[in-house]
Amino acid sequence: MKQLRSPEPQQTPRGGVRLKIDGLDVTVDAGTSVLEAARFLGLEIPTLCHVDGLSAYGGCRLCVVEIGKGDKARLVSSCTYPAEDGLVARTNTKRVVRTRKMLIELLVSIAPSSKVIQDLAARFGVQKCRFKPKYEDCILCGLCVRMCQEQMMSGAIDFVGRGQKRRITTPFDKKSELCRTCGGCMYICPVCTLRCQGPSAPTDVCGSCVCMEPTCIEKFDDYMCYLGPTGVCGTCVSEGKKVEGSGGDKELCHTANTTQQRQP
Ligand code: SF4
Ligand code: SF4
Ligand code: FES
Repeated sequence: MKQLRSPEPQQTPRGGVRLKIDGLDVTVDAGTSVLEAARFLGLEIPTLCHVDGLSAYGGCRLCVVEIGKGDKARLVSSCTYPAEDGLVARTNTKRVVRTRKMLIELLVSIAPSSKVIQDLAARFGVQKCRFKPKYEDCILCGLCVRMCQEQMMSGAIDFVGRGQKRRITTPFDKKSELCRTCGGCMYICPVCTLRCQGPSAPTDVCGSCVCMEPTCIEKFDDYMCYLGPTGVCGTCVSEGKKVEGSGGDKELCHTANTTQQRQP
């Protein structure tokens, strides 16, 4: 990964580029992607076909951001778009959010059984899918190919065919002598991770485990949930607990009620 620098310097250092993302200035080394620069600033951009340590591919378009202004603004995939001097990028415009949701909806329709995709749908507020489910076992993200080539140094699999016939396979569809059965391709595949077998129909957009708002923030300024920074559970705060020695009037968030799981 390219070296990222602090946003402070006013002049662009030699070999660096200075850009603005969501109104924040950042200076990065030439060759850094907009996605890397945005993540350096702590901005969240969803990705599916991008994993640190593998080359950028630009297949899923989920990391879309808007660059430029006015009529000239356009959408680009941030994992493949290089940071440029003076570039202005926005990660959460209406257009970006709408496009991102549509892409997630399409992905859900292709592989509704994928936990990774269902979680993305929940995380980004996609609550229903208008497209007919296809139950494909591949979304052509190319992660397995890059994993095999770049990390496992095997090159046993690759894309073949074009358009609707495009797929991943071994040379001539035969058992590859290059494959060391390391399992790297399965480990990284987002479609190989099956969604939970919850009460909802397999075609539904579920994600009830990740889309619940932490209810405690209605009551407290901060919440300190060990289940994660998004307060994914949300079941801990239906009751307040008096804190001894605080005058009895201070309430604490607690986790005694964790069996009351919300139903989707
Ligand atoms: S199991 Fe075979 S095809 Fe998969 S990553 Fe390993 S070497 Fe490549
Ligand atoms: S098999 Fe999995 S990792 Fe490989 S391209 Fe298809 S969805 Fe991506
Ligand atoms: S994460 Fe950028 S195109 Fe897939």
